Amino acid sequence: MKTSKPLVVCLGNVVADHVFRVDEVPQPPSKSQAKAYHLNVGGMAANAAIAVTRLGGRAAFWGRVGGDSNADLLIDGLRSEEIDLTGMRQIAGARSPVSAVLVDRYGERAIMGYRGDGLGTDPSWLPLGMLAEAKAVLCDPRWPEGAHVALEEAEKRDIPTVLDGERSETRLLLDLVPRVRYAIFSVPGLTNYGSGARPPDALRKAVSEGATRMAAVTRGEKSTLWILRGEDTIRETPIFRIEPRDTTGAGDVFHGAFALAMAEGMEMEQAIRFSSAAGALRARDGATAHRPELEEFLREFSG
Ligand SMILES: Nc1ncnc2c1ncn2[C@@H]1O[C@H](COP(=O)(O)OP(=O)(O)O)[C@@H](O)[C@H]1O
Ligand SMILES: [Mg+2]
Repeated sequence: MKTSKPLVVCLGNVVADHVFRVDEVPQPPSKSQAKAYHLNVGGMAANAAIAVTRLGGRAAFWGRVGGDSNADLLIDGLRSEEIDLTGMRQIAGARSPVSAVLVDRYGERAIMGYRGDGLGTDPSWLPLGMLAEAKAVLCDPRWPEGAHVALEEAEKRDIPTVLDGERSETRLLLDLVPRVRYAIFSVPGLTNYGSGARPPDALRKAVSEGATRMAAVTRGEKSTLWILRGEDTIRETPIFRIEPRDTTGAGDVFHGAFALAMAEGMEMEQAIRFSSAAGALRARDGATAHRPELEEFLREFSG
């Protein structure tokens, strides 16, 4: 079947997010009651894949889960979003990543994450042939071995590649950043990558080597900073001012939206605006928007 929706492959993490809404995150540790609870599909690449399909693309999620009950919930969740799971493996005897997320009344969150166990690193089973029809590849830093093979194949096929430069070991980010065209960091991720260098200097470093044509840092409720290869100027794109309800996953959704924008051939400035709007809606609603809602939001803000 021919379809005009571009395929975006999202490789990396999927996490069972157990989300508790609380008045405030208790400090010091004590026993308290949550006002609400729900179980969400989370994880950078998985959230990004959901954003891709809701915003009008087709998404494939490539990654691993364990043989536990959290895995069944994650698979059902991704399937219900019509995400292609050809490149998702369930590893018998392994445990899926899971996290406890506490969201306070200001929409700020505390996360305790468990990265899973026994998931392995071997990427040899990944369906790389699918990249023949992909229009963008997004990776997060949680499965570097998988990212290596997918990014190499994407580069061979001249497909745009995006890294979610989220908090990780410095050596992992130093290794992954030069392999992608677009490296988009969170504030802690950029600090890890630049070993504490000032954000502008760390961004300049990112576009000075390898395949990287653009590097950016998203900064929550502050503007996004970005730089193009060959330029010295740091550019700045404002955020959309909203009342945050739950900022969990805003960055993941930003990345999914950005990868889709690249797959659609959007200009850089417009792509960052589009992605910021997607992140803002996620923070405002605690849920990922669909394309018509996003377009409407963009029109309101520019009108
Ligand atoms: N409180 C907020 N108000 C408006 N936009 C937000 C808010 N929080 C996040 N966003 C949007 O989502 C993007 C990513 O959020 P950020 O917090 O930087 O990432 P992460 O979730 O990875 O920490 C921001 O650049 C911004 O565009
Ligand atoms: Mg993030």
